[in-house]
This record gives sequence, structure tokens and C-alpha cells, in this order.
Amino acid sequence: MRNLAIDAERLWGEIMETAAIGGTRKGGICRLTLTDLDRQVRDWFKARAEQLGCTVTVDDMGAMFARRPGAADVPPIAFGSHLDTQPTGGKFDGVLGVLAALEALRTLHEAGYETYAPIEVVNWTNEEGSRFAPAMVASGVFAKILDKDWAQSRQDSEGMTFAAALDAIGYRGPERCGEHPLSAFFELHIEQGPILEAEGRDIGIVTGVQAMRWYEVTMTGQDAHTGATPMHRRKNALLGAARMIEAIDAAGRAHPPGVATVGRIENRPNSPNVVPGEVFFMIDLRHPDGDALDAMEGIIRAALPRVCEPLGLTFAEQRIWDQPAVRFDPACVAAVRHAAETSGYSARDIISGAGHDAAYVSRVAPAAMVFVPCLGGISHNEAEFSSKEQCAKGAQVLLQAVLDYDRQLAERGGAPQGAR
Ligand code: GLV
Ligand code: MN
Ligand code: MN
Repeated sequence: MRNLAIDAERLWGEIMETAAIGGTRKGGICRLTLTDLDRQVRDWFKARAEQLGCTVTVDDMGAMFARRPGAADVPPIAFGSHLDTQPTGGKFDGVLGVLAALEALRTLHEAGYETYAPIEVVNWTNEEGSRFAPAMVASGVFAKILDKDWAQSRQDSEGMTFAAALDAIGYRGPERCGEHPLSAFFELHIEQGPILEAEGRDIGIVTGVQAMRWYEVTMTGQDAHTGATPMHRRKNALLGAARMIEAIDAAGRAHPPGVATVGRIENRPNSPNVVPGEVFFMIDLRHPDGDALDAMEGIIRAALPRVCEPLGLTFAEQRIWDQPAVRFDPACVAAVRHAAETSGYSARDIISGAGHDAAYVSRVAPAAMVFVPCLGGISHNEAEFSSKEQCAKGAQVLLQAVLDYDRQLAERGGAPQGAR
């Protein structure tokens, strides 16, 4: 195989160029899914892909596929990630995976390299789950795990549905989500944790993703005057939420390496002189082992009535998302390992703590991921940073892994791994 080298400067330049779309004063990005800023970066992506001769298709969940033809009429090998960000997101989460794939595709284009399978760069919609919960809805519908009608009816905090937001930016495409077979999917991402940096490794060979669940909880008490309502007469929903947040944190600590978080909370009516009568919050639970996650869930479900009853509160709790632990495809993982080795980079196996589109896609196509270190393991933060060299190494491994997989696919005549 010819050793094609991606262009580190060009990749870095595009990361910085797109970072201006929704760029924040603190150097991060606020580009929530399906906003006008998301439309702008999607338009940018489409234009760049078309300059490389790609055909760009969009499905009815807004997922974008930029295709470079191959020699054979087989499903494409895809790579990519997401271009939406958290409200105080950084420049790399998701963006690196899409732009590195675009750079890899450009490298193939300029070299006139003909792959066996078509190659596609994917931009998945709403990976972050910040504006519309849960996360990774487009890849979840793509993998037929999430119901499309349910996903499209999810509302943001202003009551706008996902479907209406898709239409508002003109990105509800004609293709039916999930009717787009892939030969394989590879995703490059920053680690979002501290392990690679601490060990001085260039590359994480991601073998799986930990299990995760999200819950919506509403606690209801009674709005009351803060000055005139004695302490013993109150039904303070925020006090109940505070006690639950302690219990949820304790559930995570009791099950290492499990993690348990309340990251979103709405206090109502949120007025200084009203005892809060209602609180809505979301719980995010993660653990590599599903049984341990069950135990964490059990602690939290037992705590809810114990906290609410003495405070005179009622509660409603619903699990809205349940993603089991994922093990990536051995042949795809091997392609990443081989790519890291032949590139001369130091690497280690790693389980992802964050959720990724590749986890859902792995239910319907062989998939794997590549991680690169990020400064201090910090992510979902405007200060998130990976260097030009770190990004370039990841992009190089991504390209080599895809080419290695393409070569294997050609040897099998396009048949899936293990098929006769
Ligand atoms: C996605 O960013 C997640 O891990 O929640
Ligand atoms: Mn991400
Ligand atoms: Mn993220």
C-alpha cells in the first residue's frame, strides 16, 4: 500500500476556520444542533466535499454522507463524527472526526488513489444531546435502536421539536435514515479523558464504549411565599432535588469506575422569593458493566421516595435512554492497531467513557474508533485542546485504518467479515 500522508497544516487550518462558526469569546464553540450556526457549518462541509467531487446526500434525520466513488459497487466504508457542540463546547469534540475524515478523503483525491469500496465522510446530527435529549439520535435511528417518530418529536427547552428544527434549517433530506448500508465505520475523536496524556501515548485503540443511561425526573411540591411560609409548612422541590443530587453522586462513587451526574436542572418558577414548587432534572449514569449500572439505578430509584416523602413532594421519573456497553468489531479494531503500529505511534487499548455515534453504528456495521489525547483530559469545555501534531497523528491513523480495511474488503470481494 502506498503511504499516503495527510496534511497536518491543512487539517489544522480547517479546524480553526470552522471554529469561527459559533466561536465563543473563551475560545470554544457554541454550535447547538439544528440551529442556524449548525446550518452554516453543514453548508461549509457540503461545499468542501463537493469541491472534492463528492456527492452529498442527506437523510431524514439530517445525517450527511459525502461519497467518493470506489472501484466496486459495494457499500461504502464510512468515517466521520459530528459538527454540533455543547453550549460551552471546545473546538475538537466531534469536529476533529469529521474534518480529519474530510482531510483523509482529500488526500486520496489529490493522490488519485482508487479505493475498492466507495469512501464516505459522515456528519451525524445531534450527537451531543444538549438541545434535544438524548444524545446520538441520528445514529440511533440509523441503527434502528431509536424510533424515528419519537426522535423527531423530542423538544428543546423552548418547545420546538427536532423535526421542526430540521425543517427550519433545510436539512431534512430525502433519504430514509437507516437505509444506507455501510461496509464499515471508523470514528476519530479526542479521548475526553486523561489516560493517553498521562501515559504519553499518541493513539488510543478504542475497543468499546461503556454503558450509559439517561433519566428525566420531575419533583413537585408547592410554590409558596418565602417570607410568609414557615419552614415546617414548605414543600420545597429544589431541596428535594439537592438531596437527590447527593444521592446520585454517591451512587457513582459506590460503583467505581461508574460515574453519575446531574448536569441539567430547571428550577421553577426560579424566583428569589418563591419556595420552588417544581424542579426538572436529568440524570446521566455510566459504567462499563451493565450489572453495575443496574445497581446504580437501584440506589437512585430507592432514594427518590425516601427523599420525597418527608418533604411532601411527589415525583415522576422516566428512563429515556439506555445504551448497553459496546464492543467494537475485532477486524476494525485490528485495522486501527495495525495503522498505529505502521505509522510508528505509541498506542494502547482503551474503553471510551464518552458516548459516540460509532457505538450505535456498530449495531449495524463493523465499527471502531481512534482516540488522540487532549490537554488535561478536559472536554465539554471551551478550553478543550489537542495539538496540531496530535490531531494529525489521529487523522493519519484514521486514513491508514480505512485503507487497510478497504484492502481486506477487496480480498474478500466485498463480503462482510466472516461471510462465506
Ligand atoms: C456525548 O458527548 C456524551 O458522551 O454524552
Ligand atoms: Mn463527540
Ligand atoms: Mn461531546
